[in-house]
Amino acid sequence: MVVPAGGLGTRFLPATKALPKEMVPVGDRPSIQWGIEEAVASGIERAVIVTAPGKELIQAHFAADPGLVATLEGRGADDLAHRVRDISQLCQMEFVVQPEPLGLGHAVWCAAPLVQGEEAIGVMLPDDLFSGSPPLLGQLIDVYRQQHCTVLALRRCPRDQISRYGVAAVEGEGAIFRVTDVVEKPSAAAAPSDLALMGRYVLTPEVIAELETTSAGAGGEIQLTDAIRRLAQKGAVVGLEFTGRLLDVGTLESWLATNAEIVWRDQELGPMLRARIQELELNQE
Ligand code: G1P
Repeated sequence: MVVPAGGLGTRFLPATKALPKEMVPVGDRPSIQWGIEEAVASGIERAVIVTAPGKELIQAHFAADPGLVATLEGRGADDLAHRVRDISQLCQMEFVVQPEPLGLGHAVWCAAPLVQGEEAIGVMLPDDLFSGSPPLLGQLIDVYRQQHCTVLALRRCPRDQISRYGVAAVEGEGAIFRVTDVVEKPSAAAAPSDLALMGRYVLTPEVIAELETTSAGAGGEIQLTDAIRRLAQKGAVVGLEFTGRLLDVGTLESWLATNAEIVWRDQELGPMLRARIQELELNQE
């Protein structure tokens, strides 16, 4: 699996000036850890994380830290020691640096030498946390096992928000569509449907090959959507309208809302949050 994590995080400044946006915590862990855990629950055993210069904290977070584990054990904090050790053992992880922010397609292409020879490649954009069961990447892998082609995660999106996403033109009915075209961030008027591409993919090696010759597209960046488009036009792409929800953490507003939801549902933290909100409301009166 490839996890593009080289973005600048400009939508979340100033919090992300020095801190990689993927390291901003949601609940008790960095947002990227939620993504890796979803992947592991989907059966993924190896992740290639594409970072950028200055984002070394991501690698540090997933590295083994026997000293910290020993200190925690020495203090009798066995549960915490366990959880710290688990982070480095989630799956096999490799890191590659995208030297310049040239786009999502370029980020995936940077990982290509490390996924060469794989039958299909999962891609996870860690800006969205998945809430539901079965895990989203796992849902796409199941479709791949039936169809043996590139699989996209599709979600219906209100027209006034569609220009934030890649959008699919589709044929068919039900939850699995044949994708005939994809367009990166079209205007609402030009969008071929209301089915937006969400940040999970299963790509065949043909998409990686297309990236070799994909030039800059929307926003002056090398777009993954443009490489997928060429295969869609050959009839080699399907899309799944998945079940479950995606919670955005890419902007301050969405991060706040996602944190509130995750903490609200947490068995230990939820009651604390509710009590504090009640206290704040009472004090306002
Ligand atoms: C990327 C993709 C876009 C997709 C979106 C999902 O855009 O380029 O096609 O719909 O992720 O979150 P970004 O959010 O990186 O601008």
